Amino acid sequence: MSSFERILAIETSCDETAAAVVDRGRTVLSNVVASQIDIHRRYGGVVPEVASRQHILSIEQVVRAAIETLPNGWSDIDAVAATYGPGLSGALLTGLNTAKSIAWARGLPLIGVNHVEAHIYGAWLTEREPPPFPCIALIVSGGHTLLVLMRGHGQAERLGGTLDDAAGEAFDKVARLLELGFPGGPAIQRAAVAPTDLHARLPRAWLHGTFDFSFSGLKTAVLHEMQAARNAAHGDADALARRQRELAYMFQESVVDILTRKTRDAVKQTDAKAVVLAGGVAANTRLREVLIRRAGVPVYVPPIALCTDNAAMIAACAYWRPQVGDLAMTVDANLAFV
Ligand code: KG4
Ligand code: ZN
Repeated sequence: MSSFERILAIETSCDETAAAVVDRGRTVLSNVVASQIDIHRRYGGVVPEVASRQHILSIEQVVRAAIETLPNGWSDIDAVAATYGPGLSGALLTGLNTAKSIAWARGLPLIGVNHVEAHIYGAWLTEREPPPFPCIALIVSGGHTLLVLMRGHGQAERLGGTLDDAAGEAFDKVARLLELGFPGGPAIQRAAVAPTDLHARLPRAWLHGTFDFSFSGLKTAVLHEMQAARNAAHGDADALARRQRELAYMFQESVVDILTRKTRDAVKQTDAKAVVLAGGVAANTRLREVLIRRAGVPVYVPPIALCTDNAAMIAACAYWRPQVGDLAMTVDANLAFV
Protein backbone atom coordinates (compact mmCIF):
# COMPACT_ATOMS: atom_id res chain seq x y z
CA MET A 1 0.00 0.00 0.00
CA SER A 2 1.20 3.50 -0.78
CA SER A 3 1.56 6.50 1.48
CA PHE A 4 0.38 8.66 -1.43
CA GLU A 5 -3.37 8.89 -1.01
CA ARG A 6 -4.50 10.59 -4.18
CA ILE A 7 -2.82 9.43 -7.35
CA LEU A 8 -3.14 10.92 -10.84
CA ALA A 9 -2.55 8.19 -13.43
CA ILE A 10 -2.02 8.32 -17.18
CA GLU A 11 -2.59 5.45 -19.63
CA THR A 12 -1.59 5.52 -23.31
CA SER A 13 -0.40 1.97 -24.04
CA CYS A 14 -2.70 1.31 -27.00
CA ASP A 15 -5.64 3.24 -28.44
CA GLU A 16 -7.19 5.04 -25.46
CA THR A 17 -5.74 8.28 -24.13
CA ALA A 18 -6.74 8.21 -20.46
CA ALA A 19 -6.18 10.04 -17.17
CA ALA A 20 -7.80 9.45 -13.78
CA VAL A 21 -7.51 10.36 -10.12
CA VAL A 22 -8.17 7.66 -7.52
CA ASP A 23 -8.26 8.05 -3.75
CA ARG A 24 -6.53 5.36 -1.65
CA GLY A 25 -6.70 2.80 -4.45
CA ARG A 26 -10.48 2.43 -4.15
CA THR A 27 -12.45 5.58 -4.91
CA VAL A 28 -12.51 7.03 -8.42
CA LEU A 29 -12.53 10.84 -8.19
CA SER A 30 -12.24 11.39 -11.94
CA ASN A 31 -11.87 9.10 -14.92
CA VAL A 32 -11.41 10.46 -18.44
CA VAL A 33 -10.99 8.24 -21.52
CA ALA A 34 -10.56 9.61 -25.04
CA SER A 35 -11.10 6.59 -27.26
CA GLN A 36 -9.53 6.45 -30.72
CA ILE A 37 -11.78 3.60 -31.83
CA ASP A 38 -13.60 5.65 -34.46
CA ILE A 39 -10.28 6.66 -36.03
CA HIS A 40 -8.88 3.10 -36.14
CA ARG A 41 -12.17 1.54 -37.27
CA ARG A 42 -11.61 2.61 -40.86
CA TYR A 43 -8.36 0.56 -40.91
CA GLY A 44 -10.01 -2.46 -39.24
CA GLY A 45 -7.54 -2.39 -36.34
CA VAL A 46 -5.16 -0.23 -34.31
CA VAL A 47 -2.49 1.50 -36.45
CA PRO A 48 0.49 2.25 -34.14
CA GLU A 49 1.61 5.47 -35.89
CA VAL A 50 -1.90 6.86 -35.89
CA ALA A 51 -2.29 5.96 -32.20
CA SER A 52 0.94 7.76 -31.22
CA ARG A 53 -0.07 10.88 -33.05
CA GLN A 54 -3.54 10.89 -31.55
CA HIS A 55 -2.17 10.51 -27.99
CA ILE A 56 -0.03 13.61 -28.52
CA LEU A 57 -3.06 15.55 -29.72
CA SER A 58 -5.34 14.48 -26.84
CA ILE A 59 -3.17 14.06 -23.75
CA GLU A 60 -3.15 17.64 -22.45
CA GLN A 61 -6.93 17.99 -22.65
CA VAL A 62 -7.49 14.60 -21.05
CA VAL A 63 -5.20 15.34 -18.07
CA ARG A 64 -6.79 18.77 -17.61
CA ALA A 65 -10.24 17.24 -17.58
CA ALA A 66 -9.18 14.70 -14.93
CA ILE A 67 -7.84 17.48 -12.65
CA GLU A 68 -10.58 20.04 -13.27
CA THR A 69 -13.26 18.26 -11.27
CA LEU A 70 -11.14 17.97 -8.08
CA PRO A 71 -12.14 20.47 -5.36
CA ASN A 72 -8.57 21.79 -4.99
CA GLY A 73 -7.24 20.95 -8.45
CA TRP A 74 -3.55 20.10 -8.59
CA SER A 75 -3.01 20.54 -4.85
CA ASP A 76 -5.12 17.40 -4.29
CA ILE A 77 -2.52 15.22 -6.05
CA ASP A 78 0.10 13.30 -3.99
CA ALA A 79 1.79 11.28 -6.77
CA VAL A 80 1.75 10.73 -10.55
CA ALA A 81 1.59 7.27 -12.15
CA ALA A 82 1.87 6.11 -15.76
CA THR A 83 1.80 2.85 -17.67
CA TYR A 84 5.36 2.11 -18.87
CA GLY A 85 4.60 -1.24 -20.58
CA PRO A 86 3.63 -3.50 -22.18
CA GLY A 87 2.14 -1.80 -25.22
CA LEU A 88 3.07 0.19 -28.31
CA SER A 89 6.36 2.06 -27.62
CA GLY A 90 5.39 5.26 -29.42
CA ALA A 91 2.04 5.32 -27.64
CA LEU A 92 3.52 4.57 -24.20
CA LEU A 93 6.10 7.34 -24.57
CA THR A 94 3.49 10.08 -24.66
CA GLY A 95 1.87 9.01 -21.39
CA LEU A 96 5.11 8.33 -19.53
CA ASN A 97 6.75 11.57 -20.69
CA THR A 98 3.68 13.57 -19.71
CA ALA A 99 3.76 11.98 -16.25
CA LYS A 100 7.49 12.72 -15.96
CA SER A 101 6.97 16.38 -16.87
CA ILE A 102 4.22 16.73 -14.26
CA ALA A 103 6.30 14.95 -11.60
CA TRP A 104 9.28 17.17 -12.32
CA ALA A 105 7.38 20.44 -12.51
CA ARG A 106 5.33 19.76 -9.37
CA GLY A 107 7.94 17.89 -7.35
CA LEU A 108 5.74 14.78 -7.11
CA PRO A 109 6.82 11.12 -6.91
CA LEU A 110 6.55 9.15 -10.19
CA ILE A 111 5.15 5.60 -10.14
CA GLY A 112 5.62 3.24 -13.11
CA VAL A 113 2.80 0.73 -13.65
CA ASN A 114 2.56 -2.55 -15.58
CA HIS A 115 -0.57 -2.40 -17.76
CA VAL A 116 -1.43 -6.12 -17.48
CA GLU A 117 -1.12 -6.12 -13.69
CA ALA A 118 -3.20 -2.93 -13.56
CA HIS A 119 -6.15 -4.61 -15.28
CA ILE A 120 -6.56 -6.78 -12.14
CA TYR A 121 -6.97 -3.67 -9.98
CA GLY A 122 -10.11 -2.66 -11.87
CA ALA A 123 -11.76 -5.11 -9.44
CA TRP A 124 -10.67 -2.93 -6.49
CA LEU A 125 -12.71 -0.02 -7.84
CA THR A 126 -16.12 -1.19 -6.66
CA GLU A 127 -18.21 -0.71 -3.51
CA ARG A 128 -17.52 -4.30 -2.55
CA GLU A 129 -14.72 -5.33 -0.15
CA PRO A 130 -11.57 -6.10 -2.19
CA PRO A 131 -10.94 -9.74 -3.22
CA PRO A 132 -9.29 -11.97 -0.56
CA PHE A 133 -5.91 -13.62 -1.19
CA PRO A 134 -4.97 -16.08 -2.49
CA CYS A 135 -7.08 -15.51 -5.58
CA ILE A 136 -6.98 -16.55 -9.21
CA ALA A 137 -6.85 -13.74 -11.75
CA LEU A 138 -7.97 -14.35 -15.33
CA ILE A 139 -6.72 -11.49 -17.49
CA VAL A 140 -8.26 -11.50 -20.95
CA SER A 141 -7.58 -8.51 -23.17
CA GLY A 142 -6.69 -7.64 -26.73
CA GLY A 143 -3.01 -8.33 -26.11
CA HIS A 144 -2.99 -10.85 -23.24
CA THR A 145 -4.61 -14.01 -21.93
CA LEU A 146 -3.17 -15.06 -18.60
CA LEU A 147 -4.20 -17.17 -15.66
CA VAL A 148 -2.30 -16.25 -12.48
CA LEU A 149 -2.34 -17.11 -8.81
CA MET A 150 -2.09 -13.99 -6.64
CA ARG A 151 -0.93 -14.61 -3.08
CA GLY A 152 -0.80 -10.90 -2.30
CA HIS A 153 -0.01 -7.54 -3.88
CA GLY A 154 3.03 -8.03 -6.10
CA GLN A 155 3.02 -11.79 -5.48
CA ALA A 156 1.66 -13.24 -8.68
CA GLU A 157 2.55 -16.65 -10.10
CA ARG A 158 1.86 -17.63 -13.71
CA LEU A 159 -0.32 -20.71 -14.14
CA GLY A 160 -0.82 -20.47 -17.89
CA GLY A 161 -1.48 -18.28 -20.87
CA THR A 162 -2.28 -18.32 -24.55
CA LEU A 163 -0.01 -20.15 -26.96
CA ASP A 164 -1.22 -18.09 -29.93
CA ASP A 165 -3.91 -15.39 -30.07
CA ALA A 166 -5.06 -13.47 -27.01
CA ALA A 167 -8.79 -13.93 -26.29
CA GLY A 168 -9.64 -10.36 -27.32
CA GLU A 169 -7.52 -10.71 -30.45
CA ALA A 170 -9.50 -13.86 -31.35
CA PHE A 171 -12.76 -11.90 -30.88
CA ASP A 172 -11.40 -9.14 -33.14
CA LYS A 173 -10.16 -11.52 -35.87
CA VAL A 174 -13.32 -13.62 -35.88
CA ALA A 175 -15.49 -10.48 -36.04
CA ARG A 176 -13.52 -9.50 -39.14
CA LEU A 177 -14.10 -12.96 -40.69
CA LEU A 178 -17.80 -12.63 -39.93
CA GLU A 179 -17.84 -9.05 -41.25
CA LEU A 180 -19.19 -7.72 -37.96
CA GLY A 181 -16.81 -4.76 -37.52
CA PHE A 182 -14.23 -3.47 -35.02
CA PRO A 183 -13.70 -3.84 -32.10
CA GLY A 184 -14.80 -7.44 -32.38
CA GLY A 185 -15.75 -8.27 -28.77
CA PRO A 186 -18.77 -6.00 -28.44
CA ALA A 187 -19.76 -6.71 -32.08
CA ILE A 188 -19.80 -10.48 -31.52
CA GLN A 189 -21.68 -10.15 -28.24
CA ARG A 190 -24.35 -8.00 -29.93
CA ALA A 191 -24.68 -10.24 -33.00
CA ALA A 192 -24.74 -13.62 -31.20
CA VAL A 193 -27.89 -15.68 -31.80
CA ALA A 194 -28.24 -19.33 -30.73
CA PRO A 195 -28.21 -21.72 -33.73
CA THR A 196 -31.39 -23.53 -34.76
CA ASP A 197 -29.46 -26.78 -34.41
CA LEU A 198 -28.90 -26.72 -30.64
CA HIS A 199 -26.20 -29.39 -30.82
CA ALA A 200 -24.06 -27.45 -33.30
CA ARG A 201 -20.80 -26.33 -31.74
CA LEU A 202 -17.33 -25.21 -32.69
CA PRO A 203 -14.21 -27.02 -31.40
CA ARG A 204 -12.55 -26.34 -28.04
CA ALA A 205 -8.77 -26.75 -27.62
CA TRP A 206 -8.53 -28.12 -24.09
CA LEU A 207 -4.72 -28.59 -23.86
CA HIS A 208 -5.41 -30.99 -20.98
CA GLY A 209 -3.06 -30.99 -18.01
CA THR A 210 -2.08 -27.36 -18.55
CA PHE A 211 -3.57 -23.96 -17.85
CA ASP A 212 -2.65 -22.81 -21.35
CA PHE A 213 -5.04 -21.67 -24.06
CA SER A 214 -5.11 -21.80 -27.85
CA PHE A 215 -7.63 -19.97 -30.00
CA SER A 216 -6.14 -20.26 -33.49
CA GLY A 217 -7.88 -23.58 -34.33
CA LEU A 218 -11.21 -22.08 -33.34
CA LYS A 219 -10.56 -19.11 -35.61
CA THR A 220 -9.82 -21.45 -38.53
CA ALA A 221 -13.01 -23.42 -37.81
CA VAL A 222 -15.02 -20.17 -38.07
CA LEU A 223 -13.29 -19.39 -41.38
CA HIS A 224 -14.25 -22.80 -42.81
CA GLU A 225 -17.84 -22.55 -41.54
CA MET A 226 -18.14 -19.11 -43.05
CA GLN A 227 -16.87 -20.34 -46.45
CA ALA A 228 -19.35 -23.22 -46.34
CA ALA A 229 -22.16 -20.81 -45.43
CA ARG A 230 -21.30 -18.55 -48.38
CA ASN A 231 -21.43 -21.50 -50.76
CA ALA A 232 -24.69 -22.78 -49.30
CA ALA A 233 -26.43 -19.38 -49.26
CA HIS A 234 -26.38 -19.01 -53.09
CA GLY A 235 -26.61 -15.23 -52.73
CA ASP A 236 -29.40 -15.32 -50.08
CA ALA A 237 -28.17 -12.39 -47.94
CA ASP A 238 -30.62 -13.06 -45.10
CA ALA A 239 -29.59 -16.69 -44.75
CA LEU A 240 -25.93 -15.68 -44.71
CA ALA A 241 -26.51 -12.94 -42.12
CA ARG A 242 -28.36 -15.45 -39.91
CA ARG A 243 -25.45 -17.90 -40.16
CA GLN A 244 -22.96 -15.14 -39.29
CA ARG A 245 -24.91 -14.47 -36.09
CA GLU A 246 -25.03 -18.17 -35.21
CA LEU A 247 -21.28 -18.49 -35.74
CA ALA A 248 -20.74 -15.44 -33.51
CA TYR A 249 -22.77 -17.23 -30.81
CA MET A 250 -20.94 -20.54 -31.22
CA PHE A 251 -17.56 -18.83 -31.17
CA GLN A 252 -18.42 -16.93 -27.99
CA GLU A 253 -19.68 -20.15 -26.35
CA SER A 254 -16.41 -21.96 -27.15
CA VAL A 255 -14.23 -19.18 -25.75
CA VAL A 256 -16.37 -18.79 -22.62
CA ASP A 257 -16.42 -22.56 -22.04
CA ILE A 258 -12.64 -22.86 -22.25
CA LEU A 259 -11.89 -19.77 -20.12
CA THR A 260 -14.36 -20.66 -17.37
CA ARG A 261 -13.48 -24.36 -17.06
CA LYS A 262 -9.75 -23.65 -16.87
CA THR A 263 -10.36 -20.96 -14.26
CA ARG A 264 -12.52 -23.34 -12.19
CA ASP A 265 -9.77 -26.01 -12.41
CA ALA A 266 -7.20 -23.43 -11.27
CA VAL A 267 -9.37 -22.57 -8.24
CA LYS A 268 -9.67 -26.26 -7.32
CA GLN A 269 -5.97 -26.93 -7.70
CA THR A 270 -4.80 -23.93 -5.66
CA ASP A 271 -7.57 -23.61 -3.04
CA ALA A 272 -7.97 -19.98 -4.06
CA LYS A 273 -10.65 -18.04 -2.18
CA ALA A 274 -11.83 -15.90 -5.08
CA VAL A 275 -11.53 -15.20 -8.79
CA VAL A 276 -10.78 -11.83 -10.35
CA LEU A 277 -11.84 -11.43 -13.97
CA ALA A 278 -10.09 -8.58 -15.77
CA GLY A 279 -9.17 -7.07 -19.15
CA GLY A 280 -11.29 -5.88 -22.06
CA VAL A 281 -12.92 -9.29 -22.63
CA ALA A 282 -14.17 -9.18 -19.01
CA ALA A 283 -16.77 -6.73 -20.37
CA ASN A 284 -18.41 -9.75 -22.05
CA THR A 285 -21.67 -10.42 -20.23
CA ARG A 286 -21.83 -14.09 -21.23
CA LEU A 287 -18.33 -14.68 -19.82
CA ARG A 288 -19.26 -12.93 -16.55
CA GLU A 289 -22.46 -14.92 -16.19
CA VAL A 290 -20.92 -18.37 -16.84
CA LEU A 291 -17.84 -17.69 -14.70
CA ILE A 292 -19.96 -16.59 -11.73
CA ARG A 293 -21.93 -19.83 -12.04
CA ARG A 294 -18.92 -22.11 -12.47
CA ALA A 295 -16.09 -20.68 -10.37
CA GLY A 296 -17.15 -22.25 -7.05
CA VAL A 297 -15.84 -19.16 -5.18
CA PRO A 298 -16.88 -15.49 -5.30
CA VAL A 299 -16.03 -13.76 -8.59
CA TYR A 300 -14.86 -10.14 -8.59
CA VAL A 301 -15.19 -8.11 -11.77
CA PRO A 302 -14.49 -4.46 -12.51
CA PRO A 303 -17.47 -2.30 -13.50
CA ILE A 304 -18.00 -2.81 -17.28
CA ALA A 305 -16.59 0.65 -18.10
CA LEU A 306 -13.36 -0.18 -16.23
CA CYS A 307 -12.76 -3.49 -18.04
CA THR A 308 -11.37 -1.94 -21.23
CA ASP A 309 -8.34 0.34 -21.03
CA ASN A 310 -8.61 3.23 -18.58
CA ALA A 311 -6.38 5.13 -16.16
CA ALA A 312 -8.39 4.49 -12.97
CA MET A 313 -7.04 0.93 -12.88
CA ILE A 314 -3.50 2.33 -13.35
CA ALA A 315 -3.99 4.65 -10.36
CA ALA A 316 -5.37 1.80 -8.22
CA CYS A 317 -2.43 -0.44 -9.14
CA ALA A 318 0.00 2.40 -8.34
CA TYR A 319 -1.52 2.66 -4.86
CA TRP A 320 -1.34 -1.05 -4.01
CA ARG A 321 1.99 -1.57 -5.81
CA PRO A 322 3.86 1.72 -5.33
CA GLN A 323 7.04 1.14 -7.30
CA VAL A 324 8.51 4.62 -7.35
CA GLY A 325 10.50 5.38 -10.48
CA ASP A 326 12.69 8.28 -11.48
CA LEU A 327 12.92 10.69 -14.37
CA ALA A 328 15.36 8.37 -16.16
CA MET A 329 12.84 5.53 -16.43
CA THR A 330 11.67 4.57 -19.90
CA VAL A 331 9.01 2.52 -21.63
CA ASP A 332 9.25 -1.24 -22.16
CA ALA A 333 7.00 -2.47 -24.97
CA ASN A 334 7.44 -6.10 -23.86
CA LEU A 335 7.36 -5.57 -20.10
CA ALA A 336 6.57 -8.92 -18.44
CA PHE A 337 4.08 -9.30 -15.61
CA VAL A 338 4.68 -12.89 -14.50
O1 KG4 B 1 -7.99 -4.39 -22.24
P1 KG4 B 1 -8.29 -3.83 -23.56
O2 KG4 B 1 -9.13 -2.57 -23.65
O3 KG4 B 1 -6.98 -3.54 -24.36
C1 KG4 B 1 -5.81 -4.30 -24.19
O4 KG4 B 1 -5.11 -4.10 -23.20
O5 KG4 B 1 -5.63 -5.18 -25.06
O6 KG4 B 1 -9.00 -5.00 -24.39
C2 KG4 B 1 -9.49 -4.80 -25.67
C3 KG4 B 1 -10.08 -6.11 -26.14
C4 KG4 B 1 -10.46 -6.08 -27.62
O7 KG4 B 1 -9.90 -7.22 -28.24
C5 KG4 B 1 -11.98 -6.15 -27.60
O8 KG4 B 1 -12.53 -6.81 -28.72
C6 KG4 B 1 -12.24 -6.91 -26.31
O9 KG4 B 1 -11.27 -6.43 -25.42
N1 KG4 B 1 -13.59 -6.67 -25.80
C7 KG4 B 1 -14.53 -7.64 -25.66
C8 KG4 B 1 -15.71 -6.99 -25.22
N2 KG4 B 1 -15.43 -5.64 -25.07
C9 KG4 B 1 -14.13 -5.48 -25.42
N3 KG4 B 1 -14.49 -8.95 -25.92
C10 KG4 B 1 -15.61 -9.66 -25.72
N4 KG4 B 1 -16.78 -9.12 -25.33
C11 KG4 B 1 -16.88 -7.79 -25.05
N5 KG4 B 1 -18.04 -7.28 -24.66
ZN1 ZN C 1 -5.60 -3.36 -21.60
